[in-house]
Amino acid sequence: MKYLIGNFKMNKTFFEVESYIEALSYLIEQNANKLSNIKIGIAPSFDSTHLSYIHSNRNFLFGLQNIYHELNGAYTGEVSLNVAIAADIDFILIGHSERRSLFNETNELINKKISHLEKTRITPILCIGESLEEFENNQTFTVLENQIKSALKNIEDHKNLIISYEPVYCIGNGIIPEASHIKKVVDFIHSLLHDETPILYGGSVSLNNIDILEQVDNLSGYLVGGASLNAAKFIELALRIK
Ligand code: PGA
Repeated sequence: MKYLIGNFKMNKTFFEVESYIEALSYLIEQNANKLSNIKIGIAPSFDSTHLSYIHSNRNFLFGLQNIYHELNGAYTGEVSLNVAIAADIDFILIGHSERRSLFNETNELINKKISHLEKTRITPILCIGESLEEFENNQTFTVLENQIKSALKNIEDHKNLIISYEPVYCIGNGIIPEASHIKKVVDFIHSLLHDETPILYGGSVSLNNIDILEQVDNLSGYLVGGASLNAAKFIELALRIK
């Protein structure tokens, strides 16, 4: 089973997500035979969360891009895990590089969010990745090990976890790393976790490079930003995944 997850980021209104869902559901149904080996998911922004509840009979996964690490209280402007549970959310992105760099999310905070999620049936998709400087200084493995170990600190059972490897310098600019680099990273993550946790790749995945990425034989799928925003193109991408 492979995953194709769309991260809409801050790009669609609730009305746009509604029509996207209509198109996506139809296209998945039309291509059901060809897509039987792939789970397709979308993560719109918080204002669309209730659409998950409305579409509880859906043929795709519904996720969120972030969550707060407390269940309730005086946290103006934040969204509780209780909201995600009530809306029947399937997965939540945790520690996306934009959250880390623009909103100061630390590994400690990410650890709190994952601990929280591990007590529910909602799958955390933990995003990790090195910066260009770290890559050039040969620090990729040290950085990833630190991100994973601190995110999973004191979490004994992470069977409900997905990891997305997203080198920061490849996000949103059309560049992907060498396939051999991704393969080495995925093997490294598996060796750290001693298990079969699904590992996705994210960063400029598109119809232009999906065939190259598909040659990385140990990947379990992709986390896609820009190329997920059009439902028809997103399904085209899904149809190229073996
Ligand atoms: P991109 O974003 O596909 O637009 O590069 C990927 C991500 O940030 O998850």
